[in-house]
Amino acid sequence: MIIKSLTVRNFRNHSLRNIEFGEGINLIVGPNASGKTNIVEAIYYLSLARSFRGVSDEEIINDKSEYSQIDAIVLEGEIRRNIRILITKRGRSVLVNGKKVSKLSDLTKCVNVLLFEPKDVMLFRGSPKERRNFLDINLSKQFPIYLEYISRYEKALKQRNEILKSSKVDEKLLEASTELLVKYAGPIINYRAMFVKDIHDILIKITHALTGVKSKIDITYKPFVNMSSDYQSIALEAFNRSLESDLKHKVTSIGIHREDISVSLNGKDIGTHGSQGENRLIALALKLSPYFMIEDKDKKPVVVLDDVMSELDATHRDRLIKFLRKFEQVFITDTKLEIEGATRIEIRK
Ligand SMILES: Nc1ncnc2c1ncn2[C@@H]1O[C@H](COP(=O)(O)OP(=O)(O)OP(=O)(O)O)[C@@H](O)[C@H]1O
Ligand SMILES: [Mg+2]
Repeated sequence: MIIKSLTVRNFRNHSLRNIEFGEGINLIVGPNASGKTNIVEAIYYLSLARSFRGVSDEEIINDKSEYSQIDAIVLEGEIRRNIRILITKRGRSVLVNGKKVSKLSDLTKCVNVLLFEPKDVMLFRGSPKERRNFLDINLSKQFPIYLEYISRYEKALKQRNEILKSSKVDEKLLEASTELLVKYAGPIINYRAMFVKDIHDILIKITHALTGVKSKIDITYKPFVNMSSDYQSIALEAFNRSLESDLKHKVTSIGIHREDISVSLNGKDIGTHGSQGENRLIALALKLSPYFMIEDKDKKPVVVLDDVMSELDATHRDRLIKFLRKFEQVFITDTKLEIEGATRIEIRK
């Protein structure tokens, strides 16, 4: 897909800005605090109806305004869609070609954005939650049913934790709730395992392209219980084993909400052993991987790299730029970069 144009109104520091984008690389340049990240935040907002900065809508609306609006023209091959998102302090509405859209998956189908932001350099060093989010966001976009499984699981998890927290734990209720968790976790484990298996070779190829070295890369996913024909009884046993501790701490200590993925370079965990640059490049490779899992050229996501270039040395920067030329559409923010053939968008204060 291609984002042809973007108009933001009262979006953060931009009172009104209309931008025409090109295919291939778009370079958004300007001094610090001019509003470059805010522009890519609006692009990201088009795909998930939320900010990637984990803030409430209220923070997005310009300080001097009551609402914020994003309009975009998005092309999927021959299909042209007008997307409008209106954000107010009381809620938001999403229109695709003038028709109200209420299901998130209907928006994600129209705009898919792969984002790399500065904090992603911590992807392998930070908490497992970030890595689970990577799995969950990408799987939900690819398979809307996955999101359904996750929300059912989370609801069951909330119930189980409430039971554990009650002054007198109802054992029957707890048992039923554990069974529900095991049931909903099954398909999630299958999807996660499949995703990690599929991404493996892609990750190796991208890492080689970005680093220029053919090192050994591995990605592993360890579910809390391996999938097998005995899954249900093994999973129930696992919950049984942790029951005492769960009752003591009043929280569910095992399950898909505690799982993790790890990536290793030459047999060593990248989070604990990798350099800052290796962490940056391999996290970038991982975050770009889903692009190559989508076959249909017209449905390929757009790629956003916020502030990534300035931290790389010249050789790695050139290698990355060469690699990025493969993509349908890329947005790069930087304070001073120049890229031959790129569409240049200057943001001034
Ligand atoms: N709701 C808002 N209303 C008005 N201004 C805002 C709002 N939210 C953020 N800003 C301002 O937007 C400005 C630009 O932020 P942004 O993060 O986009 O800058 P940037 O160009 O990416 O800078 P850098 O190069 O440092 O990353 C900041 O100075 C910030 O104070
Ligand atoms: Mg920025």
